[in-house]
Amino acid sequence: MATRDDLEVKILKLLNAGGGQGLISGGDLSAHLGISRTAVWKHIRALRALGFLIEAIPSRGYRLKKGRKDPFNEVSILSAMGTDLIGRRVYFYDSVPSTNTRAFELGRTGEPEGAVVIADSQTMGKGRLGRSWISPPGVNLYTSVILRPDILPQNAHNLTFLSAVAVAEAVSGFCRKRPTLKWPNDVLIAGRKVSGILLELASEADKVNFVVAGIGVNINTRPGHLPPEIRDTAASIMDSSGSPVSRLRFAVNLYSKIEKWYKIYLRHGFPPVLQAWKGFFDMEGRTVSVHTIGRTIQGRCMGVDSDGSLLVKTASGPVQRIISGDMSGHR
Ligand code: BTN
Repeated sequence: MATRDDLEVKILKLLNAGGGQGLISGGDLSAHLGISRTAVWKHIRALRALGFLIEAIPSRGYRLKKGRKDPFNEVSILSAMGTDLIGRRVYFYDSVPSTNTRAFELGRTGEPEGAVVIADSQTMGKGRLGRSWISPPGVNLYTSVILRPDILPQNAHNLTFLSAVAVAEAVSGFCRKRPTLKWPNDVLIAGRKVSGILLELASEADKVNFVVAGIGVNINTRPGHLPPEIRDTAASIMDSSGSPVSRLRFAVNLYSKIEKWYKIYLRHGFPPVLQAWKGFFDMEGRTVSVHTIGRTIQGRCMGVDSDGSLLVKTASGPVQRIISGDMSGHR
């Protein structure tokens, strides 16, 4: 049986497709959906309460009007989504401690892959290396995707690169400048971080149970939203696009990129993902510092190995392979 939300998603899709002049009659909606015209009217009212501008034109029908801002909620996301795997279930929250934590709970209770968790804000957004992720409401994207690839735990890191490529491709569609990637997975515009990715893993010794790919994208943040300590190193897509970006359009685009790269990965493995990743990496040949647990390695970046490890040639020694760490670069 269709749920209330399913019906609202269907009504929105029909309104988006529109008939002549973008209009669809109450009778047509009720025939398509198999519900009464009174029920149609109730759903239209619910959609309006969710922020959709729906005009009712007497004896002609309903028309969806474009507002200044796209509504950003479960119904708008589901009705705009063009994917078949990623986002087939959407869990949308106004506020959660962390979408990664919520996705992990869902993963543990058997949630199928492709489900996504999205929050308008996070109260305890998690970053890499125990840091926090600033997550104010109304401006950005905080999302976590559950994946269940049949891979060994040591290859789960591949999905960090895959997520980074998907985010970089999505960001490039909304910016004047081409984004770059900082190893392993920060997405930068003009050297400032617009997105971070936190991959969390549930696995047994020889099998990945599921992966949560947590992605935070600064979309419409203004410097004032950010604490002073990151104002010089963080940026938002809007800083580069010059005007506010629809979170709905960005999110839907991102999920389709994740789906594209995930399908490529399942068919062809890591090499095409890494090749695409290298296309956004511009630190080869530069002097870099990499902070790993207990030490800092400085030297010339020699690119990345076939498994994604960073290669750094130190002044005194051979090339070092670094599996994880925090990198900064200089010209
Ligand atoms: C980083 O340190 O660069 C990684 C940041 C990852 C932030 C995202 S926001 C959505 C998801 N939920 C979290 O708590 N963290 C990730």
